[in-house]
Amino acid sequence: MEKIELMLLPYPENALEPVISKETISFHHGKHLATYVNNLNALLEGTPLAGKSLEEIVLKAEGGMLNNAGQILNHNMYFSQFTAKPQQAVPTGKLAEAISRDFGSFDAFKEEFQKKGATLFGSGWVWLSADKDGKLVITQETNAANPIQKGLKPLLTFDVWEHAYYLDYQNRRPDHLAALWQIVNWQVVESRYA
Ligand SMILES: [Fe+2]
Repeated sequence: MEKIELMLLPYPENALEPVISKETISFHHGKHLATYVNNLNALLEGTPLAGKSLEEIVLKAEGGMLNNAGQILNHNMYFSQFTAKPQQAVPTGKLAEAISRDFGSFDAFKEEFQKKGATLFGSGWVWLSADKDGKLVITQETNAANPIQKGLKPLLTFDVWEHAYYLDYQNRRPDHLAALWQIVNWQVVESRYA
């Protein structure tokens, strides 16, 4: 049976400093995400969903299997959308056009995204997604949920579980969210929208 693998980070653990510290990345990827991967592989063994894609598992599983698969899918998208040296500070092309069309401006989008991240009660994720017509929406997903469960195509996410920021920002979740824009790899987000 093909196992779910722990994704490799596309940058060194210290690459995102000072926005996210090496210590936070090390725990977040090497401990939290690794635990979800180990848990899921143990739960999948001998079941019909063993060997299936994470997306398929998220759409079909329940309980612990769904929670662990959702967290892996969420974190894989999260870690792979950052870069130490963004080539562009803002989105371009079709994504930029859609953001202007659906939110008014990039700044208005950022404000709403941060607000929804800051006001999500408890643990979860704020997401930018596209619906089946390409219209952009921002959703709050609690715990391990992913927008694919609502039929949406996920593009960008900020993790608002405390493990994502507490070592660096303590209770200042809004400050953490505001800083994350500095390391978003818009080329990756644009390729998800294409
Ligand atoms: Fe996380």
